[in-house]
Amino acid sequence: MSLDIVVLAAGQGKRMHSPLPKVLHKVAGRPMLAHVLDAARTLSPRRIIVVHGHGGDLVRSTFAAMDITWVEQTEQLGTGHALMQALPGVKPRDDVLVLYGDVPLIRAETLHALVEARDSGLAILTAELADPSGYGRIVRDAQGSVTRIVEEKDASADERALHEVNVGFLVAQAGRLASWLARVKNRNVQEEYYLTDVVQLAVAEGVRVASRQPKDAWEVRGVNSRHELALVERAYQNATAKRLLESGVTLADLWRIDVRGDLRCGTDVSIDVNCVFEGKVTLGDRVRIGPNCVLRNVTIAADTEVHAFSHLDEAQIGARCRVGPYARLRPGATLAEDVHVGNFVEIKASRLGAHSKANHLSYVGDAEVGRSVNIGAGTITCNYDGAAKHRTVIGDECFIGSDATLVAPVTLARGSYIGAGSTISKDTPPDQLTVARAKQVTVRGWKPPRKK
Ligand code: UD1
Ligand code: MG
Repeated sequence: MSLDIVVLAAGQGKRMHSPLPKVLHKVAGRPMLAHVLDAARTLSPRRIIVVHGHGGDLVRSTFAAMDITWVEQTEQLGTGHALMQALPGVKPRDDVLVLYGDVPLIRAETLHALVEARDSGLAILTAELADPSGYGRIVRDAQGSVTRIVEEKDASADERALHEVNVGFLVAQAGRLASWLARVKNRNVQEEYYLTDVVQLAVAEGVRVASRQPKDAWEVRGVNSRHELALVERAYQNATAKRLLESGVTLADLWRIDVRGDLRCGTDVSIDVNCVFEGKVTLGDRVRIGPNCVLRNVTIAADTEVHAFSHLDEAQIGARCRVGPYARLRPGATLAEDVHVGNFVEIKASRLGAHSKANHLSYVGDAEVGRSVNIGAGTITCNYDGAAKHRTVIGDECFIGSDATLVAPVTLARGSYIGAGSTISKDTPPDQLTVARAKQVTVRGWKPPRKK
């Protein structure tokens, strides 16, 4: 029998105090709803239906590229009402898995286990939480069977003392869900049609309610406030750190790493504190990342060291390079092997050949730099004339003295030797010294001015 998945994502999230729809708030750099949809897709459902409402246009456009059936809930009257909007589009005999867009860390294997339990008639996901506050509680009878779910706001003191909470996810046949939902009333503190009320209606019909639990409690944390969002973010980061450690990566502090994307590491990689990895980052064997670095869409080959406070964005770095401290690699920076890029050096849309060095205070933009080139401190490629960008070509084994200004377009032939402080605006010949600076003069007999 085929499975449809319905994701409830229409709520405003009042407690977020934000104009942004709640499910678009980000965890690990991506909207919460994106995480839920990722997990949903691993079940290969026939369809994924998302119930949207508050800020619906923005939610829809954010996921425009995905194959989603959108259903609007114009008024947010509760989770039961939300699911009711989606059911008319589902065949009564098909199974429906309901997910919440504000529970983003759920693991695919947990959803698989829940769906496996659907034959019972109704299966729900529950979890034991040390601090259950804010969640609906699972009420069981003396035999341990689930009898109902009570929302915290409607719960008695005894019920509030229960630590088994409702995650919100359930699976049942669409026709049955529809018949239970038709009987759900909004006689509760929040005056909402609660999806959770279907449990007691099912039990009254003699349906056995199966329950499944996640492997880790953090998977089921819901986000209703900024505080909960921050807790979920930490839970995600901590799980990621644990995975990295288990795969052999050294982390100076497992609580101080942020991975907002896909980080792949070779063997014996080590990462110091407070580093942020965004997008797709690949670190080769024995790569070492110093403290306080930001790496976004970067590939680094084996044995390269990135020192503290470096910012690398869309860069390709070869093997055995030394980058930083305080280096900035911008999009299109490509370093071959054994390249050194030192403090306060910015490189953009440029390729540096093997064994080349720019160790201090330089800007290299739109340049092609050959092998074994030495770029002296303070060297600048003047790539922009106010209207267009121009290229600088520096041949192999060039030596560029400190504080040189290379006015593009310009080509320095192989082995050009540029005197310090030169402004180079014409191409230079190979293996010759070129100096373009005012001659030094000493004025004989000069006296300093005196106050009258
Ligand atoms: C809900 C559950 C609670 C559970 C908790 C887990 C109900 C009644 N309560 O409470 O038992 O412990 O989740 O996180 O279901 N939504 C709509 N339309 C609506 C209302 C909500 O689409 O009219 C969506 C929201 O966008 C959200 C999800 O449903 O993604 C859950 O709604 P929310 O208001 O956050 O419910 P909780 O109070 O967290
Ligand atoms: Mg919630």
